[in-house]
Amino acid sequence: SKHQLTRSDTVFALGGGVTGDLTGFAASVYLRGVRWVQLPTTLLAAVDASVGGKTAIDLPEGKNLIGTFYQPHAVLCDTNAFETLPKSVFSDGCAEIVKYGMPCDSALFDSLPCGLQKIEDIVARCVEIKRDIVCGDEFDRGSRQLLNFGHTIGHAIELLSNYTIPHGNAVAIGMVIITEAAMRAGICSEKCADSLVRLVKKLGLPVHCPYNAEQLFEASLRDKKRAGDTLTIVVPESVGRCSLKNVSLEEWKKLLCLACSSQTD
Ligand code: GLY
Repeated sequence: SKHQLTRSDTVFALGGGVTGDLTGFAASVYLRGVRWVQLPTTLLAAVDASVGGKTAIDLPEGKNLIGTFYQPHAVLCDTNAFETLPKSVFSDGCAEIVKYGMPCDSALFDSLPCGLQKIEDIVARCVEIKRDIVCGDEFDRGSRQLLNFGHTIGHAIELLSNYTIPHGNAVAIGMVIITEAAMRAGICSEKCADSLVRLVKKLGLPVHCPYNAEQLFEASLRDKKRAGDTLTIVVPESVGRCSLKNVSLEEWKKLLCLACSSQTD
């Protein structure tokens, strides 16, 4: 109100995912909604957080627990901004590119790792995939949940680490764990799981989980995708193909135990 913002004004979110999520949330509720524009400056925000209209803030109980679906008027991305990112922040964003490749596009998966020269094409491809999925399922009731690959465990890891493990790093571990579980359950091949682990390592991202199955289970109960006693998880079948699986909490616990036991092998 200090700036006397009215419904004819526009709010600009210049920054990474947190800036975008917070600005978008404020824009969606202030005056019951003012126009907003996303200007992502990190790789993670460019390929994922800035597209699709999810806005959110965290609660002490869990990540992104309060939020809205509120589409930005436009997203403007200058990939030159990535040249200013520390290497670790760039790698963190690469995890979100893998999460598009594994469920949707094996060619994208195979094009990684990539340098800054190719990054514009990669960002464009990720945004294209996300646009198509969001156009078919804006409110996350079905296929959009594929973009949650690695995220149920990832969000649990972030929560358990008190948000000291960055989002992309947590998602990387989450993708590895669920893929190893899928391999052990005979859903994907050993070759598929190996390709993922090799890529995640090459990208400078972690593959080992600092928490056990029990801790992950407890933390994952706060996942937004939980509906009563079931949870929708994204299970890899091959590179470029994942499916959504509705599991009971009991099955979920078993899967986590299976996955965590393979981590200690
Ligand atoms: N970050 C996943 C989605 O927007 O659905």
